[in-house]
Amino acid sequence: MTNWHERWMSQQTGWHRAVYNDLLLKHWPTVQAAESSNVLVPLCGKSLDMEWLAQQGHTVTGLELVSRPIKDFFEERGLTPQQQEIGKLVRYSSAPFVMIQGDLFDVQPSLVQADAWYDRAAMVALPSAMREAYVDQLRALTMPGAVGLLITFSYPQHEMGGPPFSLPDEEVAALFSQHFELQCLEQITLDDERDRGFSSSYSSVYKLIRR
Ligand SMILES: C[S@@+](CC[C@H](N)C(=O)[O-])C[C@H]1O[C@@H](n2cnc3c(N)ncnc32)[C@H](O)[C@@H]1O
Repeated sequence: MTNWHERWMSQQTGWHRAVYNDLLLKHWPTVQAAESSNVLVPLCGKSLDMEWLAQQGHTVTGLELVSRPIKDFFEERGLTPQQQEIGKLVRYSSAPFVMIQGDLFDVQPSLVQADAWYDRAAMVALPSAMREAYVDQLRALTMPGAVGLLITFSYPQHEMGGPPFSLPDEEVAALFSQHFELQCLEQITLDDERDRGFSSSYSSVYKLIRR
């Protein structure tokens, strides 16, 4: 049982939102994903944003370690997904949603080839040491030309242990620039995060294109 399993079992899921993410609604049109796109949502939890992406006409493929949020996501929409075991993974599907339960790093490219992706609270959930592998995996699971939206969160890392782990703009540039085009669409200073004890913090929103 991982810390993530424990958090879902004890409902310590402070990242989960009951509304669609306003930065997704604002910036997704700029990403210019075709309506027919299969949108990958890594480390998806049971995010409502998957529902919004489906409303745009996309199919959605979520990747999630813990089965509880996947089961909740389908149940809360009155959907009964088909289930298929694939090695260490379980694939749940009920159109337009596919959700793959298991470790993101066990997902083979033969299982997912996405035209677009959406990362909110995914990359920041992983410590810095795992992020190079995360970007490699993102590249493996997307097609050349795939477009993505990334929302970051950055703060002085020594002020909290994480997750979320700080993801500063310099790290985004270092990790993505070799194989992706990146464009910062917005940077937001988070004054309310001072209440959490951060001396400073910001979020950046990126459009990415896989070369
Ligand atoms: C901070 S939550 C964010 C969930 C979602 N993106 C959202 O915005 O609500 C991170 C999620 O990633 C999942 N997770 C953590 N490590 C993972 C891994 N190696 N493979 C797949 N999912 C993972 C956790 O179970 C958790 O649901």
